[in-house]
Amino acid sequence: MTVTVRELSGEALRQRIAADLERARQRSVGLTDALNEPELIRQHSALMSPLVWDYAHIGNQEELWLVRDVGAREPVRKDIDELYDAFKHARGDRPSLPLLSLNEARQYVATVRLKALDVLERSPLEGRRLIDQGFAFGMIVQHEQQHDETMLATHQLRRGGPVLQASAPPAAVVRNLPAEVFVPAGDFTMGTSTEAWALDNERPAHRVDIDGFWIDSVPVTNGAYTRFIDAGGYEDPRWWTPAGLAHLEQAGLGAPASWLRDGDSWLRRRFGHVEPVPPDEPVLHVCWYEADAYARWVGRRLPTEAEWEKAARHDPDTGRSRRYPWGDSDPTPERANLGQRHLQPAPVGAYPAGASAYGVHQLIGDVWEWTASDFAPYPGFLAFPYREYSEVFFGPDYKVLRGGSFGTDPAACRGSFRNWDYPIRRQIFAGFRCARDATADEL
Ligand SMILES: [Fe+2]
Repeated sequence: MTVTVRELSGEALRQRIAADLERARQRSVGLTDALNEPELIRQHSALMSPLVWDYAHIGNQEELWLVRDVGAREPVRKDIDELYDAFKHARGDRPSLPLLSLNEARQYVATVRLKALDVLERSPLEGRRLIDQGFAFGMIVQHEQQHDETMLATHQLRRGGPVLQASAPPAAVVRNLPAEVFVPAGDFTMGTSTEAWALDNERPAHRVDIDGFWIDSVPVTNGAYTRFIDAGGYEDPRWWTPAGLAHLEQAGLGAPASWLRDGDSWLRRRFGHVEPVPPDEPVLHVCWYEADAYARWVGRRLPTEAEWEKAARHDPDTGRSRRYPWGDSDPTPERANLGQRHLQPAPVGAYPAGASAYGVHQLIGDVWEWTASDFAPYPGFLAFPYREYSEVFFGPDYKVLRGGSFGTDPAACRGSFRNWDYPIRRQIFAGFRCARDATADEL
């Protein structure tokens, strides 16, 4: 995938969309075929839907946008719209709904897909904003991949033996990277107005002026995080905000989710395997409050979203912002750990080919990175194609995460992509890196 969507049109664009739809479907099928029907119907965590709900919901969104809206076709199953509307039923209520059985769901998503491919064949891919450069198809590809990542998180929360397979990630090839990298003061272009499949919250491109700052060259590792635990970080109120402290006490936090004490060391549960925590991997399954407390313990802070994006995208030689840290071409296995190719983050230093212009590593892939920022609209934001995509989530309740994880597909990840979640959440594949202001003599 070295040709970007923007450079494609006509038949080549249709082929690219069809391939992306197919890749997403293979993944959804793999995540559901791995378990038997009782396991697919069960709710493995109060935070998650039953997998069979995600699966049919993927098909329902595809029907709503591609079959009915873009294609102006007759509904396939209008009667189930309400069941699979994410805003109508909380996740905790979904298991008790009269959901489609596994076979019904499989048949439904397959029928919808055939119709969607027929729409793709016959529709112009320009003429109105919803279909320009195949946007609606790109939105549906990303929607399915995002649910696949959610389904992967459900697999991680599920108790039981391993059912998913993947090769081990690459080993570290660069060691002794500088701990932090300086990004000088100045403005840069944040967000995008040109990325074909960018979602409404990534738009429009706008200039942001920020002070010089230091940012970690790699995400915080399990080894570093263990030192915070060993130093009593979870017991010392100095490192926690009042809200963080309240949550720490109420939830009884003492280590990242999935970690298990084993004498003096730590084990972790990873997709059904129990194994020693690898010290060189980015820490995973920490909430925003834990990331924030760690940063304060090391005398630092989380980067703002603007700082993260400048470190990732700004090219000081040309002054422009790249699509990805390494440049404008799409992700490859050499540049980033994406797409569920591996079932864990790679150790820090494993992706020198993915470093940004400033020399910041592993910004894309491996782990989502918590930022200091609340989820807010960019200046000039316009909700598209519907308010519930982003707008209803704007405000101080949600923190922004950047960069994507090993479970994020390349189609749903780019330098401008914004994810968001509550600061207490630990089920996502999230870690973090730290930043700090430059001191007067460093400027
Ligand atoms: Fe959804």
